[in-house]
Amino acid sequence: MGVTGTSHRGLHGHHVIWSFIKLLLLILISSSSLSLADRTFTKVYEPISGINACFKRLNGTHEIGCRSSSKGDVGILHLIEDKHSLDWVLKDGPNAPYITMLYPVDFTRENIMQFRDSGRVTGVLLLKEKGINTNTTSFSTDSSCPNQNSGIYNTSSSKHCQSWNPAGNSLLWENLNFPIFYVHSESETEKLLKCFDNFNRPKNGITSQGWPLCATQLRSFMLAAVDTPTCLRRSSVFNMNPGAGKVCDPLGDQNIWASLLPHNSSESYPNNSIIVIAARLDGASLFDEVSPSADSSISGIVTVLSIMKHLGEASVREQLGGEGPIKNVYFMLFNGEAFGYIGSSRIVFDMAQNNFPFNISSIRYFIEVNQAAVSSPAASYFLHQSELSQSRELTDIFEKHGKAFNLKVKVVTPQNEWGVPPSSLQSFLKERPDLTGVVLTNHKQEYKNKFYNEMFDDKETMGYVYGDRNVYSVQRNMAALAATLANSVIELLSSPSEVKVEPDLETVDELLHCYLESANCSIFVELTGMKQIEQPYATYVGVAMHLTSMSQVSKLVTSRYLGYLVDNITEDECWKLQKDKGYYWMNESCYDISHVNSTEAKSPAFLLDGYDWSSGKYSTWTESIWQSFTVRIFIKPSLVHEIITLVSGILMLVFSMLVVRKVNEKADIIFQRSRTEALVC
Ligand SMILES: *[C@@H]1O[C@H](CO)[C@@H](O)[C@H](O)[C@H]1NC(C)=O
Ligand SMILES: *[C@@H]1O[C@H](CO)[C@@H](O)[C@H](O)[C@H]1NC(C)=O
Ligand SMILES: *[C@@H]1O[C@H](CO)[C@@H](O)[C@H](O)[C@H]1NC(C)=O
Ligand SMILES: *[C@@H]1O[C@H](CO)[C@@H](O)[C@H](O)[C@H]1NC(C)=O
Ligand SMILES: *[C@@H]1O[C@H](CO)[C@@H](O)[C@H](O)[C@H]1NC(C)=O
Ligand SMILES: *[C@@H]1O[C@H](CO)[C@@H](O)[C@H](O)[C@H]1NC(C)=O
Ligand SMILES: *[C@@H]1O[C@H](CO)[C@@H](O)[C@H](O)[C@H]1NC(C)=O
Ligand SMILES: *[C@@H]1O[C@H](CO)[C@@H](O)[C@H](O)[C@H]1NC(C)=O
Ligand SMILES: *[C@@H]1O[C@H](CO)[C@@H](O)[C@H](O)[C@H]1NC(C)=O
Ligand SMILES: *[C@@H]1O[C@H](CO)[C@@H](O)[C@H](O)[C@H]1NC(C)=O
Repeated sequence: MGVTGTSHRGLHGHHVIWSFIKLLLLILISSSSLSLADRTFTKVYEPISGINACFKRLNGTHEIGCRSSSKGDVGILHLIEDKHSLDWVLKDGPNAPYITMLYPVDFTRENIMQFRDSGRVTGVLLLKEKGINTNTTSFSTDSSCPNQNSGIYNTSSSKHCQSWNPAGNSLLWENLNFPIFYVHSESETEKLLKCFDNFNRPKNGITSQGWPLCATQLRSFMLAAVDTPTCLRRSSVFNMNPGAGKVCDPLGDQNIWASLLPHNSSESYPNNSIIVIAARLDGASLFDEVSPSADSSISGIVTVLSIMKHLGEASVREQLGGEGPIKNVYFMLFNGEAFGYIGSSRIVFDMAQNNFPFNISSIRYFIEVNQAAVSSPAASYFLHQSELSQSRELTDIFEKHGKAFNLKVKVVTPQNEWGVPPSSLQSFLKERPDLTGVVLTNHKQEYKNKFYNEMFDDKETMGYVYGDRNVYSVQRNMAALAATLANSVIELLSSPSEVKVEPDLETVDELLHCYLESANCSIFVELTGMKQIEQPYATYVGVAMHLTSMSQVSKLVTSRYLGYLVDNITEDECWKLQKDKGYYWMNESCYDISHVNSTEAKSPAFLLDGYDWSSGKYSTWTESIWQSFTVRIFIKPSLVHEIITLVSGILMLVFSMLVVRKVNEKADIIFQRSRTEALVC
């Protein structure tokens, strides 16, 4: 419509418009030259990838973890290198708020609390050290006495908080309420350091650089707040409106358990007739997706899987009758143990509810393998027992069978000094204090593992090298431990013949490789029938409605080692019998895995109506829902420049409004003909 009009503008109109445009251009150029330096940089965001966020969890009474504001928190980037740079951020620097970058050595409770309380720090970026934790000799954000409020020792007991984990600074359990990210990518770390060096590093260490400065925006907004009952209430309110989601989910996954010998489910076990062999499946860390948990849990899992393989071997299993007082052996892998023994407390609860093949009173011996990585010739394994349930019978057998492989196994004495270390056994002892249980670890009192439940608890700090056949290698010790326990169990089952197993170094090494280095390893690939990620799986339990890869693959390995090979059957026939007989096809063979099972590992607190959330009886941990995690850097101009930019923008706006008004007034002259034509159209 208007197109026809413009082509018919009068000479006079053209002249007026040209004058205005020239004026406009002049103003534009002069105003932008005021802040030319900034303009080229302002708000050009550069995203930082390769990050892991600290996030929010809630329990019955508290919230813990990190969050940013909904739009993200912004601050000037500053590297903490020494006392001076710390003071700069906390009081001297003129350009607060700051976002600090620091190395693990400086990620101390004291520093983080000072940041939180100073009001001058809006976020923290934890950098990875070059090389392998060379300067960090310990790093654990778990408590110094892990799970102290979920075990058998209450606050009036001197064993309530023994310093099992002296490296622990408990930051995992603090309400930090500002964003913290771990930057694991080396190239991204370089980017951050370069931005700091180029724009922000104080001249001669004392004089602040002028604007513009390198700023960072951290975004990790969390929907949940306050505590678990509040967030569950909010979630149910939200759920009434379609489209609105919940704000938190209970932590949980699955417990995996299996019997060694077949069991007729219509017959119940007599009292004291079962051996339980257990390990925990999960680990933790302050940050999302990085929880290798090498010694914290993988060492125990791999040892127990290796015992499964020994005892499940057809030639061994067919000799084991269960004719004596011990009728069966059950293997159990508990999930969510890092967060108040979720999995083990749930199985104890299931047993009490008659939702399990046996009662807690049916257990004769409970054997748990905890932190089991040992790589020095002088080191030994330790047997921990509770004061109420000491049994030479069990420990003598372990010591005897250990000697056959030159494995040092020592009973911790005096037993009354430190009590039972943090372990799943505690959940069982809570229900049945006289249960005969043993926790096997690589530490007597304080943990050998200086990176307990943290992201550096990995193969390097554990001292694992794939293929290492050294006499004192981690895999050799763990293989010997597994064989020792397998031979002990064979003896406890009082088998008539002299069945013995030898350490299976190959399997232990391969399993450690799978769990610590790459899930794309032969065992996992053969059993899942698929390529897997080239990294190890994270061990964090996650939320109850999604099963982790970690637990699914562990169930497959359990099924493979304890399943019965079914001969002469095609793949189709095998799948057809999956429902009726519990058959399962894997690695080109059919296995009867009807005795391998998994049950929900969600805290009983979420099942009980009217549960008292502050009682502390069961774990109440939930995880907040979040939208996205982002870290980005940009060059921030000074406030003065920003104001100038803003003011000149406003001036421009006012001026152009004036122009428009002027044009409107003169419109009769300028658009005389076009208007009438436009109307006609
Ligand atoms: C680690 O320590 C060495 C020697 O003390 C030092 O040169 C290096 O800068 C440190 N690295 C970090 C990241 O702190
Ligand atoms: C702590 O445990 C002891 C022994 O188990 C018990 O006698 C005592 O009542 C408990 N105290 C509290 C505060 O629960
Ligand atoms: C299981 O036990 C019941 C009762 O003792 C018996 O009738 C049944 O045949 C047994 N089943 C199997 C498969 O042995
Ligand atoms: C089995 O143990 C439970 C709990 O200690 C006890 O109540 C029950 O009487 C025992 N049963 C037998 C048959 O001894
Ligand atoms: C697994 O265990 C549950 C609970 O004891 C039981 O109901 C279910 O039948 C079991 N499944 C298999 C395949 O044995
Ligand atoms: C567990 O114990 C109770 C009572 O002692 C008994 O009724 C029940 O059958 C037992 N359950 C199993 C699975 O043994
Ligand atoms: C899978 O099958 C192959 C060939 O029979 C065998 O060599 C391999 O050990 C099996 N893998 C597992 C994990 O059982
Ligand atoms: C995984 O392993 C297979 C061979 O086992 C290989 O072909 C593949 O490239 C590996 N990597 C990934 C990411 O799948
Ligand atoms: C499997 O089939 C082969 C050949 O048909 C036969 O010799 C063998 O006995 C069968 N095995 C079983 C366990 O049925
Ligand atoms: C919740 O966590 C906080 C912080 O770790 C702890 O002090 C508190 O006792 C916990 N509350 C419950 C009910 O477990």
